[in-house]
Amino acid sequence: MLPRKKSDREAMKRPWNGPHPPLMLAPMQGLTNRAMRAVQCDIGQPDVVFTEFVRVSHVARQRITRSDCHEVLAGSDDVPLVVQLIGHTPEALAQATQQVEKLGARHLNLNMGCPFGRTTSGKTGGAMLQQPELIEACLDAVVREFSGSVSVKVRSGYDDPEQIFTLLPLFERSGIDFIVLHPRTVVQKYQGLADHAITARVVVATILPVIANGDIVSAEQGLTLLEESGAAGLMLGRGAIANPWLFAQLRRQLPQADEAQRYRQSCDYLNRLAEEYQRLFCGEHQALGKLKSVLECFSEPGLLPLVKKLRRCKTLPRFLSELQDVGEGE
Ligand SMILES: Cc1cc2nc3c(=O)[nH]c(=O)nc-3n(C[C@H](O)[C@H](O)[C@H](O)COP(=O)(O)O)c2cc1C
Repeated sequence: MLPRKKSDREAMKRPWNGPHPPLMLAPMQGLTNRAMRAVQCDIGQPDVVFTEFVRVSHVARQRITRSDCHEVLAGSDDVPLVVQLIGHTPEALAQATQQVEKLGARHLNLNMGCPFGRTTSGKTGGAMLQQPELIEACLDAVVREFSGSVSVKVRSGYDDPEQIFTLLPLFERSGIDFIVLHPRTVVQKYQGLADHAITARVVVATILPVIANGDIVSAEQGLTLLEESGAAGLMLGRGAIANPWLFAQLRRQLPQADEAQRYRQSCDYLNRLAEEYQRLFCGEHQALGKLKSVLECFSEPGLLPLVKKLRRCKTLPRFLSELQDVGEGE
């Protein structure tokens, strides 16, 4: 394929184009599959959703797996889908980019934040931050091949939270369209809190739009972050997995729910997810496992008794009947 002219790419829209700061559902491996995305779009209507990370093989001829191809194909016309790639070989990333573009992907993101497992033992995800020259080559390969928007999702640094400032010139040169920033370091994993003072400084230091991500669990907190950081938008991860209504609350379309309402909402949401998961996954056991991983994101004290009961369920019918009992008990 001939390299595309940058102007072709610039003519494409970012995944958002409204007057309001976009609210995005984060990419979350094991969670933001197409069933979850459908339920989130139905309940909370995020402006943009991301796939879980799509691993780019540097050995296989088909750079991404068949099941990941299904995820890419599952984009809807209503809510733009960003396909997130994780890989570290420019050639493999260029071929994966061609593969997903042929499948219809319009927006691509490169993962430079994942702090776990194979990703950091190799050179992908957060480990990429140890090799800025590799980042440059990888972004160049993706931007050259792709006609839609390209973005990065990045931590503030590998082990130094100031590292992000040294990467901004590289990002600006690369021709990407926006940055999603999770202001923790890679070695920090999920300890402590996201440091959004860094987000505010990055917003000032770059011409690229910055989407703020990390620890947004209430509308009040998200709106304060938008105002204080000047970020172009917000990305919600665990907060939205626990409470998809958070998107509507951030738009001030819904008031904060009280404890009893949150209990009912959560049961309704888990029931809807259970229906979708039974359609998507093979067998009740897998669907139950996926539902339990959603519970990992529930941290509201008022929901902990429900979470405790549901975690103990050994079968899906038992899980569903607990949800039913709660609904009838109110
Ligand atoms: C279970 C889990 C899976 C995740 N998977 C991904 C992923 O596939 N790609 C990615 O860029 N970040 C991934 N993340 C990070 C989230 O996208 C997000 O940056 C992080 O959770 C902080 O945002 P939050 O506090 O709103 O959850 C994952 C996080 C969790 C907890």
